[in-house]
Amino acid sequence: MEKITLKYGDNSLELPLLEGTQGERAIDISNLRYSTGLITLDVGYQNTGSCLSSITYIDGDNGILRYRGIPIEELAEKATFTETAFLLIYGHLPNESERAVFSQRLTENSMIHEEMLRFFDGFPPSAHPMAMLSTMVNALSVYYPSFFTESFESVTFDMMAVRLISKIRTIAAYSYKHSIGEPYVYPKHDLRYCANFLHMMFSSPVKPYQVDPDIERALNMLLILHADHEQNCSTSTVRLVGSSRVNLYASICAGICALWGPLHGGANQRVIEMLEEIHTRGLSIEQCIAMAKDRNNPFRLYGFGHRIYKNYDPRAKILKRMCETLISKYWYDEPLTKIAMELERAGLNDEYFIERKLYPNVDFYSGLLYRMIGIPTDMFTVMFAIGRLPGWIAQWKEMHDTRPFKIGRPRQIYTGHTIRRYVPMEERQSDPEAQGD
Ligand code: ACO
Repeated sequence: MEKITLKYGDNSLELPLLEGTQGERAIDISNLRYSTGLITLDVGYQNTGSCLSSITYIDGDNGILRYRGIPIEELAEKATFTETAFLLIYGHLPNESERAVFSQRLTENSMIHEEMLRFFDGFPPSAHPMAMLSTMVNALSVYYPSFFTESFESVTFDMMAVRLISKIRTIAAYSYKHSIGEPYVYPKHDLRYCANFLHMMFSSPVKPYQVDPDIERALNMLLILHADHEQNCSTSTVRLVGSSRVNLYASICAGICALWGPLHGGANQRVIEMLEEIHTRGLSIEQCIAMAKDRNNPFRLYGFGHRIYKNYDPRAKILKRMCETLISKYWYDEPLTKIAMELERAGLNDEYFIERKLYPNVDFYSGLLYRMIGIPTDMFTVMFAIGRLPGWIAQWKEMHDTRPFKIGRPRQIYTGHTIRRYVPMEERQSDPEAQGD
């Protein structure tokens, strides 16, 4: 094995150099502290690999994304979301009997326990659907407690995984129904995964929803494109939380919370809010670009930039095409879509964005597409969570299958006070400066 030599003071240490199947190289520092007393510092984990993984490959410079070796473009065009979920979790595309069993299980597990419906009554109608989603997913551990803590049992895992994938869309649709004060619509067993979700979201007792094949296809594609993205913020959260051997539901709940933030999954909501702000304030595209470039202005061009993709985001490319198809069919004159297209053009041609390699990311288009499908803005991140769920589950499983199994526990460089004396309250009162010395 190739080694790299680390020199520090008069000492040196040989560290193994690892290579992945795509030629990515890493210095293995797992014994660094043991051998030298040193640790590494990498705020934001920009250069730190946390695991070996065979699930998703990304080459950000060349705009490549593959699940289990299969290019995202092929999956987006040919696969279903549930097939993709199986691929991510089990490492191969399902054969006919595996597909039938997986589908059957998804169908059988689509309802949530009737008692859980009462949980929704406790939420105000204004509750953010991500808060409801994370709470309800964690609550699944109360109603379906067949989880393991010490040893990994594949049958139990299979059931937990399928239960989560099926029930998350029911919980998501019910959160929406709760927020608009309409009765919950039960899943229909003869509908496919995405069509069933659209039915639960948009059917009402007075008007059944007719599933449009273009819309179903767009949703299927959106979920596939979000299904995994290796060690991003929410996935790393799922792994870190799961590394304490807490159950899968709790780990996924943590992932949902991490995804909520506007720098991660919450960006798709922010894109539409930004477009609405531009529209209502009557801002010109030039003004927006200037505001985004101004360091003293908190305005950012949401949906632009990515930690990994510094060329283009392949998911954005696929969604842009889908956007154009739906725009030409339904929404040609919609003002926000027009603003988005102008903003995209301006950003791609502006020196500031070119220099920093800031390209439209998946969230720039996913927000527009969700809007065309009829999903309300505050549900966008919930849609992202439904899509990302198979990836979280696959990564959680991979971590549990890997030996040695280690709880995640980073270190730090302490920069606070050295030792200080405890100052009693009387002394602090009489001398406000004496906070401790
Ligand atoms: N608008 C304006 N300027 C930006 C933007 C943006 N959207 N994104 C980055 N920049 C600028 C930064 O101000 C910084 O400029 P500087 O070098 O002059 O200081 C430079 O580009 C580098 O940006 P960082 O924030 O350091 O890049 P990082 O890799 O840490 O962050 C991130 C990536 C968080 C995605 C960032 O580009 C961003 O905030 N984008 C907007 C939010 C967004 O769309 N998030 C969704 C990401 S995709 C996903 O999670 C599925």
